[in-house]
Amino acid sequence: KEAAMLPVLYLAQEEFGYLSPEAIEYVARLMGQSPAQVTGVVSFYTMLNMKPIGRYHIQVCRTLPCALRGAEKLTSFLEKVLGIEVGQTTENGRFTLSEVECLASCGTAPMMQINDDYYESLTEEKTAEILGSLK
Ligand code: FES
Repeated sequence: KEAAMLPVLYLAQEEFGYLSPEAIEYVARLMGQSPAQVTGVVSFYTMLNMKPIGRYHIQVCRTLPCALRGAEKLTSFLEKVLGIEVGQTTENGRFTLSEVECLASCGTAPMMQINDDYYESLTEEKTAEILGSLK
């Protein structure tokens, strides 16, 4: 059951939108674990969300290769354009901005993930275009 924990949590997140205390309790019961054990797993992985997120979840990699190639500047640009800070969601519920650790695309730094898609070798201009293309 422990090996199935991540796929089950991912499915629960898809079903419920995020992993609320009720969803965590449901998964815990299903998996024969305590809610505290499940919360420990959920809080460790950045792809699992314990609070509602926007329609587009922007995750900017902040690990060293991306950091050396301007990740911090990219995050500041996104904060300015979206009018939110890291960890926040826009009032209209469209965008949530997060910083995450290495997404295994270091050769195309700086990069970000929006929902399931990677956007790489980013500049401010390219990032603005990407945001504009999202419906
Ligand atoms: Fe950013 Fe690896 S350091 S993808």
